[in-house]
Amino acid sequence: MKRLPEPFRIKMVEPIRLTTIDDRKKAMQEAGYNLFLLSGDDVYIDLLTDSGTGAMSDRQWAGLMLGDESYAGSRNYFHLRDAVKELFGYPFTIPTHQGRGAEQILFPELVARVHAKAPGAKPVFISNFHFDTTKAHVEMAGARAINVLTPKAFDTAEYDDWKGNFDLDGVRAVIRENGAAAVAGIIATLTCNSAGGQPVSMANLRAVRQLANENGIPLVLDVARYAENAWFIRERDPDYRTASIAEIVKEMFSYGDMFTMSAKKDGLVNIGGLCCFREDEALFRAVQARCVPMEGFVTYGGLAGRDMEALAIGLRESLDQNYLDYRIGQVAYLGERLQAAGIPIQTPTGGHAVFVDARRMLPHIPSDRFPAHALGVALYEAGGVRGVEIGSLLLGRNPETGAQEPSPMELLRLTIPRRTYTNGHMDYVADVFGEIKSAAHTLPGYDFVYEPKVLRHFTAHLKPVAIR
Ligand code: F0G
Repeated sequence: MKRLPEPFRIKMVEPIRLTTIDDRKKAMQEAGYNLFLLSGDDVYIDLLTDSGTGAMSDRQWAGLMLGDESYAGSRNYFHLRDAVKELFGYPFTIPTHQGRGAEQILFPELVARVHAKAPGAKPVFISNFHFDTTKAHVEMAGARAINVLTPKAFDTAEYDDWKGNFDLDGVRAVIRENGAAAVAGIIATLTCNSAGGQPVSMANLRAVRQLANENGIPLVLDVARYAENAWFIRERDPDYRTASIAEIVKEMFSYGDMFTMSAKKDGLVNIGGLCCFREDEALFRAVQARCVPMEGFVTYGGLAGRDMEALAIGLRESLDQNYLDYRIGQVAYLGERLQAAGIPIQTPTGGHAVFVDARRMLPHIPSDRFPAHALGVALYEAGGVRGVEIGSLLLGRNPETGAQEPSPMELLRLTIPRRTYTNGHMDYVADVFGEIKSAAHTLPGYDFVYEPKVLRHFTAHLKPVAIR
């Protein structure tokens, strides 16, 4: 297959600096062996996240100059609202400072509806997989977050086209056990970040819509990576081979009642989010009322006018077929290079990241000594490349027993920022993996020196411990 190179020319560069191994070992020690506590300047290739780390286009930068910073009724808000309506078919738009801003103003309203409809019921949300902040906001709104992901996602070695799908029988069972009236919402995460940036099929989304209809449950789309999900549908579902990305996106969104979006991913901006509604104007009004004290007035929601302009442009650019071919092709390229070097990864490679299976690569390190974190530290020390652990360190302790339970997967996520690095950078990352592979069995595990109670992975201090 002929690989499409970057469909852009570079007209501005940001220098990055490769330090020495000794510098990095020292920096890692000073950061308490926590990759989140490193200074960005000490990182050579930063694959911590694809969130807000991408490059904007010249048109988006030009859009910044057209910012209307009116407190109320900024023209850029209207441009953004019109783009949302045209591309996604949702007439009611609330801008937010990022994805979690949308979650914090929406979920309490959905929970309030459960209390009004079924007093005494214990509200739950059902998702293929709640992202961390999504789960946190569900819980802060007084509900429980239940994940019902297809079991196929947990076998990283086995290929499946749709590892982001809901387990539909699982959804039915959760509705039955809790009662439909207690389900505040079904949240479809597109693509499914936690499963490895894996897509949800159109058929699965349609079936979830059907279940939502039958049970009178609102369907919320979490669309941080909507364009990548649409690209996979076009690629893998023969029914959509001749459809455009724009048409697929329109259909995907038609199955939701509302969506929350972290625009820092496929929206191609460094900051921003959206909370939008298809028909339910009453809910839109209620969420707007919450937006004012939490995010900001309803026509800016925590964003500058110029940021909204850049987002309106980014939403349109995200649907470009050439851009997506290159984007997902680059992630796949890193996946292929790693597989060729014998590194076990979640297969197939997802849309925004390669997920290395540390349980398979470092079988000598038990879950409570954090194998994917150990791999992350080794990768940074060897080559200045920063990934992020998605495993037991992130999962945390059982809130009731205080016990560390093993995460279903121990993954190191190598997340590729959009339009930022070239395949030369990807080759370098694969080469560093090749170097650490032979010594993988000698890597230490990690234990806490300081362990915060909540969201511990962001600020914990750790120390290496030998595994015998
Ligand atoms: N939903 C999904 C699926 C996400 O991946 C994220 C963020 C959010 C919601 C929250 O959005 O960060 O704009 O508030 N994911 C980032 C990541 C942080 O690294 O995967 P936010």
